[in-house]
Amino acid sequence: MVYKLGILISGNGSNMLNIIEASRKKIIKSKVATVVSNNPLALGIKKASKKGIDVKIINENKYSHINDFENSLSKYLVKKKVDLICLAGFMKVLSKDFVKKWNNKIINIHPSLLPAFKGLNTHERAIREGVRFSGCTVHFVNKKIDSGKIIDQEIVKVFKSDNVGSLQKKILMKEHKLYIKVLKYLERKNGEI
Ligand code: GAR
Repeated sequence: MVYKLGILISGNGSNMLNIIEASRKKIIKSKVATVVSNNPLALGIKKASKKGIDVKIINENKYSHINDFENSLSKYLVKKKVDLICLAGFMKVLSKDFVKKWNNKIINIHPSLLPAFKGLNTHERAIREGVRFSGCTVHFVNKKIDSGKIIDQEIVKVFKSDNVGSLQKKILMKEHKLYIKVLKYLERKNGEI
């Protein structure tokens, strides 16, 4: 299956850029139809437009209710004929209505070995707990935060010398590898896992 990807970002966009590059280099068959940011200040916006990718800012602060924000988002993704939504550092929790509408068509990357460390500040918590392994997970998005079916994971060793910054850097490198691996897998499996 060849997807039309809609990548949702809120910040830096390194995963996004990596997916764009993989598509350009035909490492994956799917194409990036659009990048949407809920944050007008996201650094990823410029990076995507520099690559000639369609970029849309849907500023969540301009909507008084999440339903209105999500309606605009859905409408735009439908307009761009997106058939797989890739969350890549998208820091807004999507409502159960949105998730139902896009059932099994949203995947997310999370910087921990789920089900450990759901939510925010994963690296801080991993260091504080003294875990010896951490990593990243790509999973389908369901109505509960970071709880959908796991598609694949990558592991990193956590050393006593690691801090939040070094752990984040190590995991981000693995994230880039993992997201592409998962997209290739879904292409092969027609989205069935
Ligand atoms: C990544 O580490 C991603 O796993 C994380 O935000 C970072 C975005 O980096 N996502 C979450 O924490 C989602 N809960 P990027 O913008 O450079 O791809």
